[in-house]
This record gives sequence, structure tokens and C-alpha cells, in this order.
Amino acid sequence: MHWHGSRTLVTGGASFIGSHLVDALVGRGASVRVVDDLSSGELDNIRGHIEAGRVDFIQADLMDAGVAERAVEGINVVFHLAADHGGRGYIDAHQVACAGNLVLDGLVFKACRKAGVDKVVYASSGCVYPTRLQADPREVVYLAEDMVGAPYDADHLYGWAKLMAEMTLRAGYVETGARAVCCRYFTVYGERGHENHAVMAMIARAFVQQDPYIVWGNGEQIRSWTHVSDIVAGTILAAERIEDGSAVNLGTADRTRVIDAAREVLRYTGHRAEILLQPDMPSGPLNRVPDISLARTLLGWTPQVSLTGGLHRTIDWYFSSKDREHVRSRLATMLTSR
Ligand SMILES: NC(=O)c1ccc[n+]([C@@H]2O[C@H](COP(=O)([O-])OP(=O)(O)OC[C@H]3O[C@@H](n4cnc5c(N)ncnc54)[C@H](O)[C@@H]3O)[C@@H](O)[C@H]2O)c1
Repeated sequence: MHWHGSRTLVTGGASFIGSHLVDALVGRGASVRVVDDLSSGELDNIRGHIEAGRVDFIQADLMDAGVAERAVEGINVVFHLAADHGGRGYIDAHQVACAGNLVLDGLVFKACRKAGVDKVVYASSGCVYPTRLQADPREVVYLAEDMVGAPYDADHLYGWAKLMAEMTLRAGYVETGARAVCCRYFTVYGERGHENHAVMAMIARAFVQQDPYIVWGNGEQIRSWTHVSDIVAGTILAAERIEDGSAVNLGTADRTRVIDAAREVLRYTGHRAEILLQPDMPSGPLNRVPDISLARTLLGWTPQVSLTGGLHRTIDWYFSSKDREHVRSRLATMLTSR
């Protein structure tokens, strides 16, 4: 696939991941349209491209009549990232809102079918995996793509909606040959990330010099934090190489305990504080790490950014771009809203 001159749409392109994807597509010479209602995305993330005439921006709600149809007009490849989504503190408590993604995805896919776009690239999630496989942090489990199957057991309504979208795209390929790929992202972090996700929350707490320093859960939860640059590289490769509507994991296979990530944030920022674990706060599945052999084989992709290196980059960005008083006054809301 040649990106130069290809006409792409990034739904939710003003978001954290979406805006990095827009950077990469613009860098490859693609023509890029973004549709975003800015409900959690930020115009500043893509303002430079808009002002340079490199991105055609439509501010609109994809759920409104006619918006999805207008957005996909003349487009070859649709990267569908728009979603009602947030970190653990959001998706556990806002299930009705996340269930709205069933409608949003359905409208975008229908518009793509009608317009005959060449390919849909869907931002799926590790939340489609059965939660029963992720219950014991002492068990070494790598979630492989084919572990999503009956009996299905996705993570909250957010995960179910992602799963339904995946199944719709796969069925679309089987029934009509409509090309698509589903990228299952695992706990993404990096520059422009939001405080409602764990790593960004840890950085924000250090930034405002919180003491005691709060960590949600008992600290033993296992995650595979993946830097946004790796996610974007994997997404573009998936768009180039997969077309049968199937899913591919994009994440690191490193098993990291929440408490260890928190300690590294404290060490690097130089913030000396007592850690206070809060086991009753939302902590998500206790053991979520992907098997990435399919991405290696099909895409030739492996993550390039180590957690330590990515954390340092993200901390440097956060500390140089945020206002301490603003974060301090809004932190409680930032942790649970989108
Ligand atoms: N961040 C992660 O760790 C992670 C992990 C797995 C999957 N994902 C998925 O990746 C995608 C991007 O997530 P993100 O973390 O960058 O941030 P995000 O959740 O802020 O991105 C969603 C974007 O969609 C826009 N949007 C929401 N509803 C819309 C609507 N009705 N019409 C138009 N635009 C709308 C928002 O303004 C935002 O820019 C989402 O689909 C998310 O579910 C993210």
C-alpha cells in the first residue's frame, strides 16, 4: 500500500492515539481528514497540521445524522478510533456511555460499506479478552488472538462493544469481502496521554507532589504498557498487510507490576513520598499481557520503546507542558472523567 496521495480518514483523530496516527500519516504523504467532536480529543493535538493545510478537519458528532456519510466521502482507508472511552476509572463507572460505541461503530461501518471504502482499520482493545483468563497475577499468561471465543467474557460494556465491532468487521469480510483489520491495543501511554489512564495518573500525581502518593489497587496488577509510537507503527503496518477483518494484538509482551511502574515514576521525577495503596479503587483485570507472535509474523512488528525509556520521555513531556496549579485543582476529576 502506498500512503503518498492516498485519502485517509481518522475518526477521533484529535485524540491521544489518533493525533499521533495523524502525524504519521501526514509524514507519509497521505491526504488526511479528521472527524472528531472534541468530546475528549483536543484540537491543539492537530492544530499545526490544520493550519498547514495538511489535515481537513470536521468537528462533528459521528452519531448525528449524515455525519458518518459525509466523513467517508472520497476516502480510501478509514482508521476508526472515535469512541466513548477513558481509563479504568471511567469505563467501569460509565457503562451506558461506552455501550453507545455499538451505535457509533455501526454507523461508521454502514457508511463505509455504502461508500465502498477500500479498508477499515479498527481501534480495538485488550478489553475483548475473557476476564477469567486475567484473574491471577502470579500466572504467566500471554493472551493470544484465538483466545477470544465462546464463552465470551469481555471486560465491561466497553469491551463488549469492541468485541461486537470486531465480529461485525470479520463477518463483513466473510459475507462480502469488505476489507478490514482490528488492532487490539494494550494499555497505551505517551505524550498527549490522559490522566484517566494509570501511567499518566502516576505521572500527574508525582507532578503535583502528592504525598502520600496514591496507587489504585494492591500494586500487584500486571500490565504491558505500550508506547504510542509503537502502537501507531503497528496500526499502519496492520493497515498495509491484513485485510480479512481479523484481529492482531499490538502491545508489549513485558510483564510489569503497577507498583514497579509507580516506583520508577517516583525515582525519575525525584518525588519522595510514601506510597499508599488503595485496593478498593478500580484496578481492572489483574493480569493483562498479550502474545505478540502474530504481529511479529504477519507485520514484522515488535515494540521498539522500553517502558523505562517511554516513561522518561512521557514524564519529560508532562513536566514541561503542564501547569501544576491547574492539574492540582482538577486531578480528582481528571482521574475518572474523559
Ligand atoms: N488509550 C488506550 O490505552 C487504548 C487501549 C485500547 C484501545 N484504545 C482505543 O483507541 C482509540 C483512541 O483512544 P485514545 O486513548 O487515544 O483517546 P480517546 O478515548 O480520547 O479517543 C476517542 C476520540 O474520539 C472522539 N469521539 C468520541 N466520540 C465521538 C463521536 N461520537 N463523534 C466524533 N468523535 C468522537 C473523542 O473526542 C476523542 O478524540 C479509542 O477507540 C480507544 O477505545 C485505546
